Amino acid sequence: MRLFRLLLLKRILVIGLLSVASGKEEHLSFRAVPVAATAIHSGVPWYDQHHQAVSARGAGLIQEGNRFYLFGEFKRDHGNAFVGFSCYSSADLATWIFESIALPVQPEGPLGPDRVGERPKVMKNPRTGEFVMFMHTDNAAYKDQAVGYATSPSITGPYTFHGPLLFAGQPVKKWDMGVFQDDDGSGYLITHSGNLYALSDDYKSVARQLVKDMTPHCEAPAIFKREGLYYWLGSGLTAWERNDNHYFTAISLAGPWQDRGLFAPQGTLTWNSQTTFVLPVTGSETTTYLFLGDRWAHPRQNSAATYVWQPLQFDADGRLSLPEFHQSWNLDTRTGRWAPVSLRGKLLNIPPAEGWTPHTDAAGVTDLRSKVKGATLTLPFTGTQVAIHGVARSDGGFGEIQIKDHTGKVVLTSIVETYCLYPEASLKFLSPRLPPGDYTLTVTVLGERFFWQAKRAAYGSSDDFVSVQKILLVD
Ligand code: DGJ
Repeated sequence: MRLFRLLLLKRILVIGLLSVASGKEEHLSFRAVPVAATAIHSGVPWYDQHHQAVSARGAGLIQEGNRFYLFGEFKRDHGNAFVGFSCYSSADLATWIFESIALPVQPEGPLGPDRVGERPKVMKNPRTGEFVMFMHTDNAAYKDQAVGYATSPSITGPYTFHGPLLFAGQPVKKWDMGVFQDDDGSGYLITHSGNLYALSDDYKSVARQLVKDMTPHCEAPAIFKREGLYYWLGSGLTAWERNDNHYFTAISLAGPWQDRGLFAPQGTLTWNSQTTFVLPVTGSETTTYLFLGDRWAHPRQNSAATYVWQPLQFDADGRLSLPEFHQSWNLDTRTGRWAPVSLRGKLLNIPPAEGWTPHTDAAGVTDLRSKVKGATLTLPFTGTQVAIHGVARSDGGFGEIQIKDHTGKVVLTSIVETYCLYPEASLKFLSPRLPPGDYTLTVTVLGERFFWQAKRAAYGSSDDFVSVQKILLVD
């Protein structure tokens, strides 16, 4: 196990080191193409048309015509209270438009003030044409869980909340949940601990239970189907801390389900994410199965949590894997094909700054670090886009990134986190493309860290370090 961890660490640091060389990112086994505006970048905040963080955590994704609609938890940076489910849309799965708060806080009831609302998922009912949203509702202590539902005639809402989804007249008292629509339009609900339910024809109640308590160790469930085989993904139970997620397969939804183990290399903690959904993206040439994971950043779940979206791989036996982390890649939604992309640009010199010290790992990886609350790194640049790489470690914390234009006006404020249970050198921030001009970039240490006190354990970082490894002026 120790040897494996060392090998994994070496592999992760080597990927990081290669990325440092000459200011370019190189992918080892794939043809690299120039970065496009349409690349999917995992592990960095995304921005909408207003330069606000795309806040759709625990999300689900559906395609309607030529657009993709992302529904998720619209978060705040402090506290877990439900503040609404957001809806964003995109044609390329990379550029996101904020559409609406599709379901806002209700005046009272399961999604009223000071309640919890999580993991919204939307399906279009083929019989009624209605959009039906499912979600986890709860009280602030997570002790009043139920699956609820809401409906809307239009995809972006507003959705009308109807309360708990009933099964034989009783609420389905589960927390983490997901949904699945089979080829024939039948709808299914899956929940933590391995429960699978068939929905009624109108999706507004549960018709029958197909699988009961299959595994006690499963949260964040997601189901999809490929070539006649059903896949059921789920995480371990570590609250918002990352863990190695696992999967099951079956040729019938009723089972038997076979435990197939992990789908990302052990110890990568599912490349630092928790499953939320899988969307098959079918084009004229092939289908790419898009894995959606959350990289939580409690308590800064609005600004600093990020998305880990990766192309799932399959072997001839249907074995599922995410063998390597694709930092940046694009998915051609016309053909269904995906390819890695490279972030190219010029390395900027980082001037010395008070409170920041050079750091070298045992493996020789160097970066600048600071945990001094308020310490800043300031760098002028002329161009349109900057990228910051850092080394995430178990003592990493939150940093604020600010970009001002030549008049001193703030054009972007963003929060990044550099926390990971193993040292991981990667892209931590990528600005939106700005109008060509003169700008000033400032990184400020917030003196805060990822932390979550769960029922059974405390999770999170041991310190507040912010890491900057290199800053790139993107071409
Ligand atoms: C883990 C779940 O997967 C999340 O959706 C969230 O409910 C957290 N637990 C809360 O601890």
